[in-house]
Amino acid sequence: MAILKIATLGEPVLRERARELSLEELASPRWQGFIDDLIQTMRDADGAGLAANQVFTPVQVAVIEVKGDNPRYPYKPKIPLTVLVNPTLTPIGDESFDNYEGCLSVPDLRGVVKRHARVRARYLDRTGQAHDVEVKGVSAGTFQHECDHLAGTVFVDRVTDPSTLSTWRNWERHHRAAFIEQITKVVERYGS
Ligand code: NI
Repeated sequence: MAILKIATLGEPVLRERARELSLEELASPRWQGFIDDLIQTMRDADGAGLAANQVFTPVQVAVIEVKGDNPRYPYKPKIPLTVLVNPTLTPIGDESFDNYEGCLSVPDLRGVVKRHARVRARYLDRTGQAHDVEVKGVSAGTFQHECDHLAGTVFVDRVTDPSTLSTWRNWERHHRAAFIEQITKVVERYGS
């Protein structure tokens, strides 16, 4: 396994729409090894998720994992390791919430993004098994952030109020308390 180099904002690969993987490709040692590397890279960087574009490989693969003690996002509810291959997300209903997001490809910046509170996620896991699940609350925001990457979209594109942009240090100092209060209500409402 290897820790891969992460692309930062301005790299054209972050703006590409990733291509789908075939079942044959997915089963191959090359792409199974890539998924292992993507997971290891996410964990090494303390990310809550990582999309293949972010490691200069624009295919429809993203990984998500929140262990509950993530130093970047301590308020995020746990999400078991999830490998999304060829995912599609469909909003359910019209509820949304404000999420203060960050990204391993956007060093030292956070900003407020509006996210759907419920989404239907259809994807293959790394074995090629199809899944069709509803994801809610903060976890739904994480799924939307990662699937955005596979379409060439970065969270800063969705920041409607640029005055919310903040370095991580200033976020801790000036925005953390109010956001934790607000996001705790989202977690209570949706259970995730
Ligand atoms: Ni990201």
